[in-house]
Amino acid sequence: MSSIKNICCIGAGYVGGPTMAVIALKYPEINIDIVDLNKERIDLWNSKDLSKLPIYEPGLDEVVKIARGRNLFFSTNVDDAIRKSEMIFIAVNTPTKNYGEGKGMAADLKYVELCARRIASVAVSDKIVVEKSTLPVKTAETIQTILDNTGNGVNFDVLSNPEFLAEGTAIDDLLNPDRVLIGGRKNKRGEIAVNKLAEIYSRWIPIDKIITTNIWSSELSKLVANAFLAQRVSSINSISELCEKTDANINEISKAIGTDSRIGLKFLNPSVGFGGSCFQKDILNLVYISKSLGLNEVADYWEQVIIMNNYQRTRFVRKIVKTLFGTVSSKKITILGWSFKKNTNDSRESAAIYIADKLIDEGAEIYVYDPRVSYEQMIEDLNYVSSRTKLENKKFLKFCSDPYEACNNSHGIAIVTEWDEFKNYNWKKIFEKSIKPASIFDGRNILNKEKLNKIGFNYYGTGK
Ligand code: NAD
Ligand code: UGA
Repeated sequence: MSSIKNICCIGAGYVGGPTMAVIALKYPEINIDIVDLNKERIDLWNSKDLSKLPIYEPGLDEVVKIARGRNLFFSTNVDDAIRKSEMIFIAVNTPTKNYGEGKGMAADLKYVELCARRIASVAVSDKIVVEKSTLPVKTAETIQTILDNTGNGVNFDVLSNPEFLAEGTAIDDLLNPDRVLIGGRKNKRGEIAVNKLAEIYSRWIPIDKIITTNIWSSELSKLVANAFLAQRVSSINSISELCEKTDANINEISKAIGTDSRIGLKFLNPSVGFGGSCFQKDILNLVYISKSLGLNEVADYWEQVIIMNNYQRTRFVRKIVKTLFGTVSSKKITILGWSFKKNTNDSRESAAIYIADKLIDEGAEIYVYDPRVSYEQMIEDLNYVSSRTKLENKKFLKFCSDPYEACNNSHGIAIVTEWDEFKNYNWKKIFEKSIKPASIFDGRNILNKEKLNKIGFNYYGTGK
């Protein structure tokens, strides 16, 4: 039985919410308060109608239904939650800095620092403080310094416990993780703190999957894991262009190389480029850290992963424009899928944003359908890129709640996210209402080329 009776998690986002919900599910004896400054988000977490939870994640509603109000609570009362807990997770956002030194590269740690300062000022008993956010290596030192110098004389033990869940499969990833990583100080207090956290996870995770390391290895491993995963996507995407020039087929290549157990089959799906809030941010951060340490070759090596990713998005747009006779000006182009991958409503850094933006630059009129992302979010995403005014974005990007309506009278249909439902559409019906010659640009290779060709579509896959 854990000696921890109360946990506080600061940050009720894509990580804080699901992670704490699963701990609460597995450990009813521990009281968990998830707190956030964003009242609107907290209200949604507390909504009676579980379809209104602020994030869409398969299976999450079931877990929240069981634990919420029992030992899982969502509130904006940060101070109370800090005060009563023995263990505090920091799961706030760590976006790429958009100002000052390190702009566009370094992680912005202002939210993390605010948390540390809040904990220090409020805590009147010893606390274990767990870094759940993804952080640059050595951040634990900063957090420890703030806590020790601004606190009320109580003891703080900082741990690193990075999260490896992927969106869309978060609940399964949390219930059956490949591993849990805990980094702590190599002294008596550090070891006790590591054991307390490991004890919680061991309720449902086999002990041999709980890896403990020194705190810096843990922080750095998280950045490296994301960099390696993203690197695989960029590697396969680079080969996809080579395939298009040589009549080789990227899916056959993925299988041929992935069956080598040293390479493995996962993360070899060609695409319009990776998206999501983390891959780019974490690689940029790795590049920044390397450059700051004078490791220019290391920095250049990893930066290439991002360069390739940007190129893959641009290449997709060029293919559309070239195929549609060199211009998409005043032509209706349909985008199916706006989220950065299937089974999530998250569109942060989604390739769809950049593809739509470039197509609008070319004069196209974009009609988008996505099963989970709202029009407001799409417009917000486009505004963030700052290419034109909000009014212009609204003029050129239209939303359709019905995919068939989105495809009506379209010159070209771009599949940008791999939502399963796209496979089952009545493509014959869509063809009949398309402008001819009708073209499909399958950025995810999820549709059947032969079937679509038979219907009459010109089909353009990725890497085949
Ligand atoms: P998010 O933006 O969805 O959630 C962060 C939340 O923290 C927001 O709701 C924000 O209001 C809140 N917050 C910020 N400052 C606060 C403060 N001082 N006090 C209280 N609340 C505050 O972010 P996320 O996607 O959950 O990511 C959080 C961290 O986890 C990031 O470092 C990210 O890199 C990492 N991570 C994310 C994922 C993922 O799949 N999204 C996976 C692994 C790791
Ligand atoms: C990723 C990692 O997989 C998680 O382990 C990590 O915890 C998380 O980042 C994080 O730190 O935020 P996530 O971004 O949610 O998870 O989703 P992924 O499944 O990794 O996909 C990322 C992007 O790569 C998506 O746009 C996806 O479509 C793309 N991708 C993925 C490909 O284009 N091809 C592939 O073969 C795999």
